[in-house]
Amino acid sequence: MNVARSFSSLLVTGGCGFIGSAFIRGLFSNLAFDGRVVNLDALTYAGNPESLAGAVDPERYVFVHADIRDADAVRAVIERYAVDGIVNFAAESHVDRSIVAPDAFIETNVVGTFKLLELVRENPSLHFHHVSTDEVYGSLGPTGAFREDTAYAPNSPYAASKAASDHLVRAYARTYGLSVTVSHGSNNYGPYQFPEKLIPLMILNLFESEPLPVYGDGSNVRDWLHVEDHAEAIWAIVRSAPAGETYNIGGNAERTNLQVVRSLIQAVVEETGRPASALESLLRFVTDRPGHDKRYAIDASKLQRELGFSPSREFESGLRQTVSWYARHGAWVERVRSGAYRDWIQTNYRDRTPK
Ligand code: NAD
Ligand code: DAU
Repeated sequence: MNVARSFSSLLVTGGCGFIGSAFIRGLFSNLAFDGRVVNLDALTYAGNPESLAGAVDPERYVFVHADIRDADAVRAVIERYAVDGIVNFAAESHVDRSIVAPDAFIETNVVGTFKLLELVRENPSLHFHHVSTDEVYGSLGPTGAFREDTAYAPNSPYAASKAASDHLVRAYARTYGLSVTVSHGSNNYGPYQFPEKLIPLMILNLFESEPLPVYGDGSNVRDWLHVEDHAEAIWAIVRSAPAGETYNIGGNAERTNLQVVRSLIQAVVEETGRPASALESLLRFVTDRPGHDKRYAIDASKLQRELGFSPSREFESGLRQTVSWYARHGAWVERVRSGAYRDWIQTNYRDRTPK
């Protein structure tokens, strides 16, 4: 039975990252949220408050520079701003980084989620939505799709840390009767994505005539979901899904990595007028990612059936818009690459963390 949750003060963790910032931009635009948004973010390399510049109503928006592992800081935020719901985006999110240095993934994704759950336990009227990933289900063969009841089989330290956090969320809901929902999104793309992930990395390398490093033979398959579709789906779940439910969110756009890179080459040709042959010559097949999952595919029929949600953005046109966005936002790219936005924070955001 669907519910109709409403919130007056929503705590969004990781709201300066790629998906969290899209969610907050949405709350102040098409998602039409009329309450207060408290964005709590540790501002790691992946968090950039400039992704929200001009997109929020300053009367209804608070930024708090804090770590989700800092229970005292988060508790103070919950009390001071009378928080009645939490949407947890805060995470270390890049698989390659987790292979090189897993520690931060355990710290933020596992310990951080645990600390948040303890605070929800202290405030059991809060609703907690946990943003998870399809990677917890592992890797598929040529057919089939992940369902919500697919067994967990995480293959990277990142996926294992997300799986661990999902298990904690489930256990806290069952043991302590907390109100939680969980979503498993597929690969996101769109504006404001840090240029370490496949699509923005390839776009910038194409613009800069740098090599395009395709792992293995490029036949690994991902399902691509526009970040604004993802934000809309999460909002539908947060507002309407029964407590204790989990939902897969997909983009209906399964592509091999090589198909994605070739579509990007085509989009950059259209954007810049450069010859395709020059861009094709940048393709390089490089050493594969260790433990590289072969294929992800999402069965999102539960979300469609129970909440009436399905994504509306088509992949190839979404890619062209994304290429255009990166072409017009060179300054944003330079600043996230250099970390220069940290100076901007000092002048544009006063630290409002309650003492
Ligand atoms: P991101 O790396 O772009 O952003 C993460 C944000 O969390 C940043 O703003 C960072 O500063 C913040 N953060 C990191 N550690 C923190 C901490 N300890 N305390 C407070 N803030 C902290 O990530 P994203 O791509 O926006 O992903 C958001 C969530 O969605 C993650 O939970 C991720 O697992 C999940 N997800 C991502 C995708 C994808 O394709 N990117 C798909 C499905 C699910
Ligand atoms: O499926 C959801 C997940 O999608 C999210 O949980 C993760 O946070 C997000 O990072 C993403 O994980 P992937 O590992 O699938 O995304 P990434 O962009 O790193 O890689 C996509 C595919 O492209 C993957 O098969 C590896 C490949 N790849 C990636 C990079 C960075 C390359 O071939 N070359 C590259 O340089």
